[in-house]
Amino acid sequence: MAESVTITDNRTGDSIEIPIENGGVSAAEWKKLLGDTWFYDPGYTQTAATRSAITEIDGDAGILRYRGYPIEQLAEQSTYLEVAYLLVYGDLPTAEQFAQWKHDITYHTFIHENVRKRFMEGFHYDAHPMGMLVSAVAALSTFYLDAKDIFDRETLDKQIVRLIAKMPTLAACAFRFGIGMPFVYPDNSLDLSTNFLSMMWKVAEPRFEANPKLARALDVLFILHADHELNCGTAAMRMVGSSHADPYSATAAAAAALYGPRHGGANEQVIRMLNTIGSMDNVEAFVADVKSGKAGRLQGFGHRVYKNFDPRAEIIKKAAYDVFEVTGKNPLLDIALKLEEVALADDYFVSRKLYPNVDFYSGLIYQAMGFPVDMFTVLFAIPRVSGWLAHYKELLEQDQKIARPRQLYTGSAQRDYVGVDQR
Ligand code: ACO
Repeated sequence: MAESVTITDNRTGDSIEIPIENGGVSAAEWKKLLGDTWFYDPGYTQTAATRSAITEIDGDAGILRYRGYPIEQLAEQSTYLEVAYLLVYGDLPTAEQFAQWKHDITYHTFIHENVRKRFMEGFHYDAHPMGMLVSAVAALSTFYLDAKDIFDRETLDKQIVRLIAKMPTLAACAFRFGIGMPFVYPDNSLDLSTNFLSMMWKVAEPRFEANPKLARALDVLFILHADHELNCGTAAMRMVGSSHADPYSATAAAAAALYGPRHGGANEQVIRMLNTIGSMDNVEAFVADVKSGKAGRLQGFGHRVYKNFDPRAEIIKKAAYDVFEVTGKNPLLDIALKLEEVALADDYFVSRKLYPNVDFYSGLIYQAMGFPVDMFTVLFAIPRVSGWLAHYKELLEQDQKIARPRQLYTGSAQRDYVGVDQR
């Protein structure tokens, strides 16, 4: 075998040679020698749970490609809707396919009035918009009962269109409710990001004119966030999808995973951290506190996969300057730049390969554009739904087994029940 590993079971002296494919070994081969012996891997750092043809990442080289296309080219030349099609269907659309896709997405942006009135307006006045989004997406499954027919290609395609189209509407709806402003209906004459900005910011003007530079910057951010292979949220999508739950329920689970501060919630934490630091003079002391464990982790730094640089962070840094040309500089930018400079010169971060990730600068852009911090993860979820659905569709096509990891039981051995009066 060209590349292989030989594993010997020292209990029996038996050996097996296993080929290395795509950098790993098959558990099925491993099992031939080791039977039911566990492969203990909390956090799945060494476990490939699927084959996937959607997104390729080379963390050491800082490479991210969707369906083979470098993220830099897509961010420069494509649009989020085209990228969403690419992720879901595997190839860039022809002009005709793209026209149909844009039409379909545009005409599914409306949400059922009861989603707005009964669900969105039923939340407490200070509900977090991400909690509202997660719940509303789950609720959609009760509006589209055909969604359960997941093996009917046309029906599944329809749910994919609905979900991609309705995410911006739900997101804007959650925001408007939180600030006590009336809901703005989608405008079918606008493209996805301009329409989203209109639903967010329109007040009394007959037509909201979004700044095209801001709409484009938002679209680029949507491209960068559209997929990132088996991160926590996408793994949740595939985990729940493997039980054949409908796409709305699986998407709600994925969005719930994204909500956590170690994942999509990090950009919100970055702004909170920069506010806590407060001034460039405090950066060095703050970094010292991070190193000693007093200040927690440096938010927006580090990544499970990227150990050199996060290519999305580089594109975002450039987009940030484009946005600041329109909005004026975010006052937290100088603190962020100093923090990056200090951390990248410090052996603690260098030796652990901790670099700014996608969240380090995205929050600064969102804030400059006027989005409140609790909308940041929602902004992440809007495009990520296309990646989640691409994985969901791929999972069904692979007819993958239900996901069911093993555990190592560490609890007590059998013991007999004792009544409460004797304990
Ligand atoms: N600040 C300070 N130290 C850090 C940081 C950080 N941001 N990230 C990791 N470390 C340290 C850990 O303490 C650990 O040090 P040790 O070896 O002395 O114990 C070492 O680096 C390795 O850390 P792990 O937790 O093993 O790395 P892991 O790959 O599990 O974590 C994660 C990745 C969760 C992203 C982590 O770097 C982190 O918490 N970063 C801050 C939150 C953040 O920015 N999340 C966004 C990620 S991008 C996204 O989800 C879109």
